[in-house]
Amino acid sequence: MATAIAHPNIALVKYWGKQLGPGNLPATPSLSITVAGLATTTRVEAAERDSVCINGEVRRDTKVEGLLGAMREDFDLPPLGIHTRNDFPTGAGLASSASGFAALVTAIDAEFELRLSPQERSAWARRGSASAARSIFGGFATLAPRDGHWSGDRLLAKDSWPLELVIAVTDETAKPVPSSEGMERSRATSPFYEAWCRSTEADFETACQAVTKRDFGLLSAVAEHSCMKLHALMLSSRPALLYWNQATIAAIATIRRLQDAGTSVFYTIDAGPQVKAVCAPGQGGGVAALLARSPGVLRVVRGALGDGARLANSPQPS
Ligand code: DP6
Repeated sequence: MATAIAHPNIALVKYWGKQLGPGNLPATPSLSITVAGLATTTRVEAAERDSVCINGEVRRDTKVEGLLGAMREDFDLPPLGIHTRNDFPTGAGLASSASGFAALVTAIDAEFELRLSPQERSAWARRGSASAARSIFGGFATLAPRDGHWSGDRLLAKDSWPLELVIAVTDETAKPVPSSEGMERSRATSPFYEAWCRSTEADFETACQAVTKRDFGLLSAVAEHSCMKLHALMLSSRPALLYWNQATIAAIATIRRLQDAGTSVFYTIDAGPQVKAVCAPGQGGGVAALLARSPGVLRVVRGALGDGARLANSPQPS
């Protein structure tokens, strides 16, 4: 049996919307940071029939079934027993599917000696959940088309620009509308959808330049813009998708006050009410102390940039 570990990632230029047709291909490129301090551990072994056990609970998971079906068209895989554990809340906007599929594909690759490259693992992980394509890689990762193929890649190593992260948790329950359903709703109903797709291409280019140049101000501006534009798209969908609560808005105000006082920090928010504060190196402690006192924040979780998906006993992450 093989056991793999992967971390969630947080998108700074967001993916929201899929191309029509098979393969779970995104409509837009995206860029993220992989986050240490939160992890999924997944073990796979040959079994009598496929089974998925998440945090000790046996579940039917149609995304896992879809991925295994697709992989079996290319590889001779037996029925699989999959055991996965998250050390953070599942389904609360903390991207458990990203770390989950990155760990799953990494474990399958090792157990059945498929000898996939990191980019190939990333493309398979994308079939399960597109954001998972980025969790194969550590540090700053992209998901974009290369020669017509959508796979992730590493843009910058974590040690080259060790940003810090503070997550303000405002609600630990599962989100009301899952991402896949929400993004299809936006594609089908929002009058802003085309503008979102078009403008995200430019945001992606700008953000890649900001990361390469380690320009915190530029990254901050483009990441907050991508976040706010995503939520404007969600709000303009029918029925409207509103993932925020009052504590989310209060946390944005807290981060704005920190910015006004000269702290290098910016916020980003996904399909859930948690606020993720990305901080320049050395600024995480002060940001965490203030966010912990922001009205409605239940707790804060501190994180650093993490490694890519790897085997539990391997010192060599991607
Ligand atoms: C808001 O990767 O969960 O976190 O491909 O349908 O599984 P599927 O969607 P998923 O969507 C992530 C949406 C997001 C933004 C992002 O991570 O880029």
